[in-house]
Amino acid sequence: MTYVTKVYYPDREKFKSYIDKIYDSGWLTNNGPLVQELEKRLEEYLGVKNLLCVASGTVGLELAYRTLGMSGEVITTPFSYVSTTSAIAATGYTPVFADIDIETFNIDPKNIEKTINEKTCAIAPCHVFGNACEIDEIDEIAKKHDLKVVYDTSHAFDVKYKGEHILNYGDISVISFHATKIFHTIEGGAIVIKDDELYEKAKIIRNHGSDGPDSVAMLGINGKMNEVEAAMGLCMLDEEEQIQSDRKKSQDFYAKELKDYVTFQKHNEDATKSLTYFPIVFRSHEEMDQVRAALREHDIAARQYFYPSLDTIPFVEKREPMVNSRDLAERILVIPMHSGVEPTVANIIKETLNRIR
Ligand SMILES: Cc1ncc(COP(=O)(O)O)c(C=O)c1O
Repeated sequence: MTYVTKVYYPDREKFKSYIDKIYDSGWLTNNGPLVQELEKRLEEYLGVKNLLCVASGTVGLELAYRTLGMSGEVITTPFSYVSTTSAIAATGYTPVFADIDIETFNIDPKNIEKTINEKTCAIAPCHVFGNACEIDEIDEIAKKHDLKVVYDTSHAFDVKYKGEHILNYGDISVISFHATKIFHTIEGGAIVIKDDELYEKAKIIRNHGSDGPDSVAMLGINGKMNEVEAAMGLCMLDEEEQIQSDRKKSQDFYAKELKDYVTFQKHNEDATKSLTYFPIVFRSHEEMDQVRAALREHDIAARQYFYPSLDTIPFVEKREPMVNSRDLAERILVIPMHSGVEPTVANIIKETLNRIR
């Protein structure tokens, strides 16, 4: 079966040599030397400062909201992975949705502005499938209404916006390093915090709120990454170029060969193009369903990402329906894009679209 994502395993011998280091150091978790090394290398590689590795992307988002220490409504996108919303609710805020732009799949700044009220404290967009949001417009809205911005950057490890890594934007940006991502640490993630004081506060919250061996300064969580995960990240970083060039081959093929059959996500021209996912949009749910079933017969598992639209899930307040998000969720498929996509698989996808469309 060819899945949408495929876990990448870096060089086995190198990974083993890091595991030996862990045995030798006797340091398995609690901000060990490999976590510190990974944080430093990621800051250099990405060109960011104040980066903290965390246990997962979800924990990173929760850490962001705990660190901001506010209360009230957070305006977010209904079209993303569930964690973008659940982290807001889990930390005591109220997630409120602003609908997406049907072409970019990202939260539409016009809808953000309409949704702001006296309870709003932050905006939480996601660069969906690595497509950069309208960052400048969102920034302007946030400044005008004195709101914080927390970006979910989980799909955009390989993206620069106006020449700078996309993690540099917003008050806080969070990224997932889950095993299925283009860069991974098995489980894990990172959080990048603009403000130095908030960065120091986040370090304490990540460590159970403890600011010293016998001192608890505030309410915290266990947000730590461990040494085995950091070792995986250090190995992955060495192979990023290869990982990305493998994906580029599938991306180029799909972009050229599928364009007559389906619609693609409209790309933000101020940003580089991500190699994380390849979403395709159909005219109707029925057409999408037919293609998905036909691909399954060839052992190709295309997925309906992101479904369901997050304004329909149980723990959120029901307000106006997010029409664009619901519509897109019904008609979208993400197709496999990774080193395991053989040319035959890519050709079957093309032939299937040609037959059904
Ligand atoms: C957009 C988005 N946000 C958050 C997450 C959560 O990350 P994690 O699985 O590392 O908790 C994911 C997960 O894959 C994601 O795609």
